[in-house]
Amino acid sequence: MHIIEMLVSRNLMFLFSRVPSYLYELDQHLDRFLLSASMAKINLPFDRSRIRSILLQTASVSKCSQGTLRYWLSAGPGNFYLSPSNCLQSSLYAVAYDAHLPEFKGSKVVTSTIPIKSSQFAIMKSVNYLPNVLCKMEAEENGAFVGIWMDEEGYVAEGPNMNVAFLTEERELIMPEFDKILSGCTARRVLVLAEKLVKEGRIRGVGVRKVGSREGKMAKEMMLIGSGILVMPVLQWDEQIIGDGTEGQITEALFNLIVEDMRSGPPSVRVPLT
Ligand SMILES: Cc1ncc(COP(=O)(O)O)c(C=O)c1O
Repeated sequence: MHIIEMLVSRNLMFLFSRVPSYLYELDQHLDRFLLSASMAKINLPFDRSRIRSILLQTASVSKCSQGTLRYWLSAGPGNFYLSPSNCLQSSLYAVAYDAHLPEFKGSKVVTSTIPIKSSQFAIMKSVNYLPNVLCKMEAEENGAFVGIWMDEEGYVAEGPNMNVAFLTEERELIMPEFDKILSGCTARRVLVLAEKLVKEGRIRGVGVRKVGSREGKMAKEMMLIGSGILVMPVLQWDEQIIGDGTEGQITEALFNLIVEDMRSGPPSVRVPLT
């Protein structure tokens, strides 16, 4: 009986704007999706351009003017065994649904006691998310929004489905390196958009480097970044109040820049629905 599917890779993105609608960061998400599929050793059922066109068509026929598109790849219908050798054919699934833009509101985070995934699995977007689920549940049990993972050397890594960034005392926007965590499409876009704040003199620079927990907790601002939340301020990490305990101005400026980018960014990040 062939009833089990192995779901091994997936992705999501925001679909936003009024008619005509656009998919935000479609190609950036698709690149990571294909890389993850190859790391998971799943052959694609179609080539990149066909997958891209299926995603655009799915979003288009959904008639959502603002929402989320989630898609994932499976090794296909098979059996109860670990080996996918009897799976018939890899399958692509896509779901588009209405969703509102997240609100800009501060949150509390806690250091996760759930072990972080090894880098081989952390850099890959997959549905092996049990550690991520437990990290989230542990945070909720402690009255927090999410857990923050530290890497094995004790540096800040990421949240269960978002990246983390800080505004340092020196007014520099910093993020942990992406070599052992998921390379977030939103975080990478924030790094680009933040250059505007450098030009305006609101921040002194933008960088990707190791961040220790002490430096992170002493930051002027801390934020979570991901396609589900965009840019969310963190007001408290464990017992430590971040900055003055209110939503930071730079965090808010970055949130607004991403929203503006969704509404009127360049063609490299906004693909019109067909
Ligand atoms: C573990 C992890 N880190 C970071 C992110 C943020 O990535 P993106 O901005 O592409 O949504 C995600 C997204 O789901 C994630 O699962």
